[in-house]
Amino acid sequence: MSDPLPFARPEPVAAPEPTPEVAIGPTGRPVPEFPQPRPVTRHGGARVVAMCNQKGGVGKTTTTINLGAALAETGRTVLLVDFDPQGSLSVGLGLNPHEMDLTIYNLLMQRDVALDEVVVPSGVPGMDLLPSNIDLSAAEVQLVHEVAREQTLQRVLAPAIGQYDVILIDCQPSLGLLTVNALTASDGVIVPLECEYFALRGVALLKTTIDKVRERLNPKLEIDGVLGTMFDGRTLHSREVMERLVQAWGDTVFHTVIRRTVKFSDATVAGEPITSYASASRGADHYRQLAKEVLSRWPDG
Ligand SMILES: Nc1ncnc2c1ncn2[C@@H]1O[C@H](COP(=O)(O)OP(=O)(O)OP(=O)(O)O)[C@@H](O)[C@H]1O
Ligand SMILES: [Mg+2]
Repeated sequence: MSDPLPFARPEPVAAPEPTPEVAIGPTGRPVPEFPQPRPVTRHGGARVVAMCNQKGGVGKTTTTINLGAALAETGRTVLLVDFDPQGSLSVGLGLNPHEMDLTIYNLLMQRDVALDEVVVPSGVPGMDLLPSNIDLSAAEVQLVHEVAREQTLQRVLAPAIGQYDVILIDCQPSLGLLTVNALTASDGVIVPLECEYFALRGVALLKTTIDKVRERLNPKLEIDGVLGTMFDGRTLHSREVMERLVQAWGDTVFHTVIRRTVKFSDATVAGEPITSYASASRGADHYRQLAKEVLSRWPDG
């Protein structure tokens, strides 16, 4: 039987390799897969991290509560330090500022008060809180006259290092003596920045303060990352701010970005982290992702 195809058969053409789908994140960069946090079997040797930006209302307190809760979900023991006389962190975890017996103010100013007497449970398993209220505003003035005034917080937190895996310090919106104390006590700084136009103003001053503290008081201090908060993907505005942030700070900017949602205010009213208040929400997922990203950056994370 004659060949129905007398001509040479064309070489089969190999189908093109499918290009892997690379998800571009809100920061305009491909988002890597962060490793699952390793299980922790022994606690202690805490990494101390200050949540710092002298601009108000950028998400410092929200990030302290929710990153802390997300880290606690991974089995880490976490101590949150409310270092703001506004006491928002304490209120955000359901404490009444007028019903606190002892606060971080007593710990800082009274030698006979021990850390264990001031620490309270946060309501989240594995996460404790050093509460604060308006009394702390007096410490800023009184500390000026102390010897080693910049190292006071570091001194009082020393007994907590052996107990916890992570200590997160929620700073007040200023670069005064309390914030310098927080930076002196810390291994790392996380800078939350709201995704809006004026966000970048003042960041240079914050960087100068961090550099000065590193040079003069705390050589180990590192910037762990800059975190975009209140991101609204529908606006060009938010995306442009993220773009400029990455231009200015490069890989210091976390891939994880926290989107704007009213669930955060609702959770604050409920006095809980979003990871328990709305456990399946996107906001909770963002902070769980941030926890993984942060751990991937920390030595021995
Ligand atoms: N991703 C978000 N989406 C929507 N609202 C948010 C988000 N993050 C924080 N908020 C809200 O914005 C307000 C300010 O947040 P937060 O208190 O965390 O900022 P802050 O930097 O600690 O402020 P301050 O400088 O006064 O201490 C709060 O009402 C909070 O609930
Ligand atoms: Mg705050």
